[in-house]
Amino acid sequence: MLKGKKFVLGITGSIAAYKAAYLIRALIKKGAEVQVVITPAGKEFITPITLSALTSKPVISEFFSQRDGTWHSHVDLGLWADAMIIAPATASTIGKMANGIADNMLITTYLSMKAPVFVAPAMDLDMFAHPATQKNLETLRSYGNHIIEPGEGELASHLVGKGRMEEPDNIVRVLEEYFSKKEDLAKKKIIITAGPTYEKIDPVRFIGNYSSGKMGYALAEECASRGANVILISGPVQMKCMHPNIHRINVESAEEMYSTAIKEFPDADAGILCAAVADFTPQTVASEKIKREKDDLILQLKPTHDIAAALGLIKTQAQKLVGFALETNDEESHAQDKLKRKNLDFIVLNSLRDTGAGFQHDTNKITIIDGKGSTSYPLKSKKEVAVDIIDRLCKELF
Ligand code: C5P
Repeated sequence: MLKGKKFVLGITGSIAAYKAAYLIRALIKKGAEVQVVITPAGKEFITPITLSALTSKPVISEFFSQRDGTWHSHVDLGLWADAMIIAPATASTIGKMANGIADNMLITTYLSMKAPVFVAPAMDLDMFAHPATQKNLETLRSYGNHIIEPGEGELASHLVGKGRMEEPDNIVRVLEEYFSKKEDLAKKKIIITAGPTYEKIDPVRFIGNYSSGKMGYALAEECASRGANVILISGPVQMKCMHPNIHRINVESAEEMYSTAIKEFPDADAGILCAAVADFTPQTVASEKIKREKDDLILQLKPTHDIAAALGLIKTQAQKLVGFALETNDEESHAQDKLKRKNLDFIVLNSLRDTGAGFQHDTNKITIIDGKGSTSYPLKSKKEVAVDIIDRLCKELF
C-alpha cells in the first residue's frame, strides 16, 4: 500500500523524536520514500546524521543550506509529498500549525502542503490535556488534518497518563488504512439527518429526546472519507464533524429538518435518515414562559412531517433511501412495516433490548432489513457499524 509513496516527515523537539528513527525504518521497509524536515529543537533530540543515514536524503532544517546557500523550497515539498506526517508533534508546533505561525521550515512546509497531513502529538499529560492544546488540535481537525491520538502510559517525566506518541508501527497502520481507503462514493451527494429535534413549548422549554447524534456523525465521516459530498442536517448535538467533505446544516425543529431535507434531496444520490425526529410538536408555542398553575397543564400536540416518508414519495429509481428503526418489541415486523410505508431501500434496526445499542452509546448492534430478508451484525463500535451500513449502501448504488 505504501510502496512508492513519498512522505515528508516533520520532527519536532520532543523526547519521542527517537521513535521517528523507527518510523522511518518501517516506512522505508514498506517501499516508501521519506524526506525529513526537522525543527531546530528537534535536532537537540536526534541528530540529522542518523536521519539522513536512514532516509538516504539530506535532512532539511533551515530555509537554505548554510554551507552552499542551496534554497530549500517548502512549496516544492508541498507538491512532492503524498502525505506529511508530523511525529512527534509538540504542543508548540501544534499551536503554530493551528495559528499559521510560519517561523521555521517545518511550519512553512505544513502551510504549503497539498497532501493530507497526519499529526502524532507527544507531550506530558497535563500539556496534552490543557484546553489550549485541545483547542489547537480541534482547529487542526477542522482543517481536515488527521490526528493520531497519543497513547496512555508512563511518560518521559515518569508521570502516567495520555501523551505518549503513538508507536511507529501503529502510525504505519494508520497510513496504510488511509491509502487503502476506497473512494467509492466520489462525486456522490449524500444527505444524512442526525441527532434529536427540539420542539418548542415556550421560550425556555422544548420536547426533545436522548439522541446523541453519534451514529449519524459516524455515517457522515464514513461517507466523506469515501469521497462523498455529505450534507449533514443535524439537530442540536454536542458532536463536531471533522471531514472537509461534510457540509453541516444545523436545525432545531422537525419542521426545519423537513424543509432542509426536502430542499437538499432532489439532486442527492442517497439519503440516510438517522435523526430521532419528534413525531409530535405543540400546536402553539407560548410567547411567554408558561407559569406554574394549580391545575394540570395540557399541551395540545400535532403530528410533524415524516421526513423519511416524504422523501420516499419523491424518490426516483436511481436514488436510495435508508431509514432507521429503534424498537422495543416486535422489532422485525415493525421495521418491515416502516420499510414499506416509507418506501425505503433498507432499514437499520436497533433494539433497545440489546445492551450497548441505541441512544448515547458508543456501540451499536444492528440488523439490516430489506424487501428480501434480514442480516444481523454483532455488537460493534458506531464507527464500524457505519462502515457496514455504507458498504451495504454502495451495493444498492452500484
Ligand atoms: O416511524 P419511526 O419514527 O420509528 O421511523 C424511524 C425512521 O423514520 C428513522 O429513519 C427516522 O429518521 C425517520 N423519521 C423521519 N421523520 C419523522 C419520524 C421519523 O424522517 N418525523
